[in-house]
Amino acid sequence: MYKLFFNLVFKRMDPEKAHYLAFRWIRLAARTPVLRTFVAAALAPRYKELRTEALGLRMHGPFGLAAGFDKNAVAIDGMTMLGFDHIEIGTVTGEPQPGNPKKRLFRLVQDRALINRMGFNNEGSLAVAARLASRNPVFRTTVGVNIGKTKVVPEAEAVGDYVKSTERLAAFADYLVVNVSSPNTPGLRNLQATEALRPLLAAVREAADRTVRSRRVPLLVKIAPDLADEDVDAVADLAVELGLDGIIATNTTISREGLRTRGDVVNETGGLSGAPLKERSLEVLRRLYARVGDKITLVGVGGVETAEDAWQRILAGATLVQGYSAFIYEGPFYARAIHKGLAARLNNSPYATLADAVGADVKKVSA
Ligand SMILES: Cc1cc2nc3c(=O)[nH]c(=O)nc-3n(C[C@H](O)[C@H](O)[C@H](O)COP(=O)(O)O)c2cc1C
Repeated sequence: MYKLFFNLVFKRMDPEKAHYLAFRWIRLAARTPVLRTFVAAALAPRYKELRTEALGLRMHGPFGLAAGFDKNAVAIDGMTMLGFDHIEIGTVTGEPQPGNPKKRLFRLVQDRALINRMGFNNEGSLAVAARLASRNPVFRTTVGVNIGKTKVVPEAEAVGDYVKSTERLAAFADYLVVNVSSPNTPGLRNLQATEALRPLLAAVREAADRTVRSRRVPLLVKIAPDLADEDVDAVADLAVELGLDGIIATNTTISREGLRTRGDVVNETGGLSGAPLKERSLEVLRRLYARVGDKITLVGVGGVETAEDAWQRILAGATLVQGYSAFIYEGPFYARAIHKGLAARLNNSPYATLADAVGADVKKVSA
């Protein structure tokens, strides 16, 4: 049904326009009391066996919405209604910014992929903080806040920009993510080098602790799949050293390897997401788990299309799993299908709980 609709309507529209249209419908449905209760009852995860504890938080299930879909925190209830069990808003930057000129989002339908160079278009930390402060949630969910650098802020002053966002947003974050891995802000990914990352993460940690005294806001870093293996190890070691709570692997890739889609669209500048990212994201996750084990929480994202993909991420070491691109192709039943399939897989597995399954594949190899 959705596939037909996608082919007849969305596929013929500019991808960014289709995004905002779908977004409007989701928000509208979430504001309509009977409808939202009905949709949430049908789609929200309700499998006891999937209850997840991660980052000191209790969740109904491990699968959530990756950053970038709800940049300004306007659709938290809507996406929760559709069955995503945690919603990562952002990337939010210190200052508001328009992002890159349009067209900046492209579909590679044959590859079930997207290329985007949105460039952190968002309303900025002040506006998003105000929205979160006045939010009256309909559904209880976990809200992650993903922060990044304002484009006009020079790399040398990046820390100040992240600190500003932290001071404004940490109070509303169930967890906070330092995004240093988008390919669409010039120089941003240089912050993944440990010399730059150490002071950045330390400053954000300090700012979060200073602003929120009633609890410790979990802090994660989101990394690129294009890091060399040694650099993945270096970030993992740094995360453990700094007492970080988690790593999100991965963001989009600048690689264009193995695409079936032909034509100019493949050469559009930006980050590639969706199915072609699957293998490398999984590989990075495995490597991270082999390095850090259960010391910190890993979040698996990149090309997760099916429950089987999500299950593979859990076996590779992810406690939480996220998706974005496949939602565009699979539609409103995407999150539900993942949670349902995960419950079935867990029940047919030798593991008593989801937590027991985390990293099981990697442990087997190293045993
Ligand atoms: C249009 C678009 C915008 C995105 N914006 C952000 C962003 O602002 N911050 C971020 O950390 N990741 C962003 N991402 C990356 C996703 O969160 C995710 O890491 C990536 O797309 C891989 O997952 P997927 O294959 O399920 O899409 C964006 C992805 C897409 C497709």
